[in-house]
Amino acid sequence: MNPKLKRDFLRVADLTTEELSHLLAHAGAMKNERHHGAVRRPLEGRSVALIFEKPSTRTRVSFEVGAFELGAHPVVLSSRDMQLGRGESIADTARTLSRYVHAIVLRTAGHDRIEALAAAASVPVINALTDDHHPCQILADLMTVRERKGTLESLRYAWIGDANNVARSWVEAAERFGLALTVASPEGYGFHANELPPNVRQVVDPREAARGADVVITDVWASMGQEGDAVARRAAFAGYQVNRDLLVEANPDPLVLHCLPAHRGEEIDAALIDGSDTAVWDEAENRLHAQKALLEFLML
Ligand code: CP
Ligand code: NVA
Repeated sequence: MNPKLKRDFLRVADLTTEELSHLLAHAGAMKNERHHGAVRRPLEGRSVALIFEKPSTRTRVSFEVGAFELGAHPVVLSSRDMQLGRGESIADTARTLSRYVHAIVLRTAGHDRIEALAAAASVPVINALTDDHHPCQILADLMTVRERKGTLESLRYAWIGDANNVARSWVEAAERFGLALTVASPEGYGFHANELPPNVRQVVDPREAARGADVVITDVWASMGQEGDAVARRAAFAGYQVNRDLLVEANPDPLVLHCLPAHRGEEIDAALIDGSDTAVWDEAENRLHAQKALLEFLML
């Protein structure tokens, strides 16, 4: 791979609106193909390293299966089992892996860590979640909204809860597509005003955010790495649960999204996840299709 042509996907804003639209359309086509049993292996003979420094179910399995289905060989690595876990630098790891594989996917804590990996790697680097961003999740979320609502742009969106990695990637998606997004977080858990584009509003009252929303999105109150703060967060976020009472404020038939894993009874009422009309399993499935489209886009 010519390093000058290398593209990374560390945050949603790394791709243009046109590129994101193309990915969503391609992911939809790949989903359709897969449901009809079609096989296409454009990445035959290539390999992709998947490094996890935090736990994962959906991201790990969807990338591993996705790479396999495209014909690529996935090398799944836990940093605990790598020299990386004994202190080898992220840059030296990037340089070494770039000699073997054609893309590197990393889930880690500090966003600076994946930026350092990308800076030293000569192959595309994909963010499988950092403390600041979860861009792959948002590809699947946008795909799910389009499937269920037939549009992205003419809807109103509400994020209820922590201004975390998933929320930040939603803010970047809102910026790219000009979406009307309102974020509701308790004082002290929101975004800095300078992080938000003009089309994203921030409020404290969850009912205000939910009012007139077509899509209501939430995530855990304590993300991976914040477990020690969970008790204080549970107190701060009381009243921010997405449940039928909150959804009374929303437009009819609101789409509820959650990236999973969920803490049922905390940020979301179990009835919303377990209901027959829930979209969260489609949302989880769409990780596979969206990431296959992304791998093909960055690796070919
Ligand atoms: N939504 C998501 O990224 O799930 P995992 O942590 O299981 O990968
Ligand atoms: N905000 C959550 C997302 C998990 C997929 C976390 O970082 O733990």
